[in-house]
Amino acid sequence: MGEVINDFTVITGATRGLGHELATQMAAEGLPLCLIGRSTARLAPILDTASGQIIVAEADLARPQDILEIFPRALPKGARIGCLINNAGCFSETEETTFLQLHHDLQVEISMVNGFAVAALTHAAHPFLTTGSLIVNVLSDMAFPRHWEGTYPHYCAAKAYALAFTVNAAPALHREGIRMIGVDPGWMRTDMGGPDAPDDPAEVASAIRRMISKRMELTPGSIYHALSGVKTAPI
Ligand SMILES: NC(=O)c1ccc[n+]([C@@H]2O[C@H](COP(=O)([O-])OP(=O)(O)OC[C@H]3O[C@@H](n4cnc5c(N)ncnc54)[C@H](OP(=O)(O)O)[C@@H]3O)[C@@H](O)[C@H]2O)c1
Repeated sequence: MGEVINDFTVITGATRGLGHELATQMAAEGLPLCLIGRSTARLAPILDTASGQIIVAEADLARPQDILEIFPRALPKGARIGCLINNAGCFSETEETTFLQLHHDLQVEISMVNGFAVAALTHAAHPFLTTGSLIVNVLSDMAFPRHWEGTYPHYCAAKAYALAFTVNAAPALHREGIRMIGVDPGWMRTDMGGPDAPDDPAEVASAIRRMISKRMELTPGSIYHALSGVKTAPI
């Protein structure tokens, strides 16, 4: 089983936070990247400094049709995806206290982007994946029932969807030589995590890159804590 490291690495949510850090670090390494976002103007600084090929694909991951069309439209003929990082996430503080006031559009976005988009992107990417490809799904401790506290119901439910998808889709993918894992990124200082979070997204991005570089040691369907590299129980 070969390592697919020269093909495209796809990163969702590359415009801000963890995805932006991953994209910046990988672009500096000269890796071929396909960056997915809905506000792609924010990717200009990465494009300016990159030494490798970078494709920018605009998509709103709350829209299934955007996901269906993304790879045939964005990738060159014959391209393969060596690594798909399902990182994009969407969150609302309103959910902490009164989820009943959450606007319908935000209910759909939180559910889609954190949950179904992970599955839909896996399906959309499948024709471009090959033996040795890796799928990394960025989850959250809120995916795990042991961390449910009666708050953020849509976010918890959507991340739990992505967790269940990761564990249950991994065996069939592995039979094709494709690994799928989940990563708990911890609590990071990003727009989502806020300024008081303990973890630096640049360090979390470096830890995920180290994990990706040792992909053959990763157990398909497992969930890893990013900074410690320790496997965490899925429930
Ligand atoms: N920060 C934390 O402490 C923390 C903790 C646990 C898990 N996580 C998870 O870690 C991942 C990265 O989080 P982060 O803190 O880096 O978040 P962030 O700074 O808020 O960035 C979120 C990214 O997702 C993109 N995104 C959101 N909705 C989208 C949509 N409808 N279509 C396309 N892209 C969309 C955003 O794009 P735009 O710029 O277009 O909005 C942005 O690039 C997420 O999956 C998050 O749930 C974060």
